[in-house]
Amino acid sequence: MKYIFSFLIFATLIYACSSSNAENSASASASKKAEDGEKIYKTYCVTCHGIYGDMGSSGAFDLTISQLTLEERIKVISEGRNLMTPFKELLSEEKIKAVAEYIETLRTDK
Ligand code: HEC
Repeated sequence: MKYIFSFLIFATLIYACSSSNAENSASASASKKAEDGEKIYKTYCVTCHGIYGDMGSSGAFDLTISQLTLEERIKVISEGRNLMTPFKELLSEEKIKAVAEYIETLRTDK
């Protein structure tokens, strides 16, 4: 009887921990993703593209008028193009995707 009782407590604890962990990580990654793109942009991209995407330092493309699709943007960011440096060594695939999604919001000609 004692054994069954402690087993029940143990099982309840495991259940409580695993379900709250799952919830935490799901909501953490959802909110992280939303702000990540902007944070990454402000860390790595503003030096050339500027806070609004239209600064054009070192010949950087004006992102407010960029017509590229998400896939094309991911490619330019990962592999670089002319004076733009590649970011695949610096940023994970998820981060590149997040920043590619973020720069979509800078476009003014949608
Ligand atoms: C060293 C300066 C520099 C940095 C830093 C930089 N870029 Fe660029 N970017 C450029 C230049 C220059 C071009 C134009 C490339 C060309 O002429 O082929 C460009 C082009 C682009 C394009 C293509 C736009 C189009 O429509 O053709 C995208 C998208 C882009 N950058 C996104 C980013 C993102 C996102 C970051 C940060 C992760 C970033 N860039 C950081 C210089 C930079």
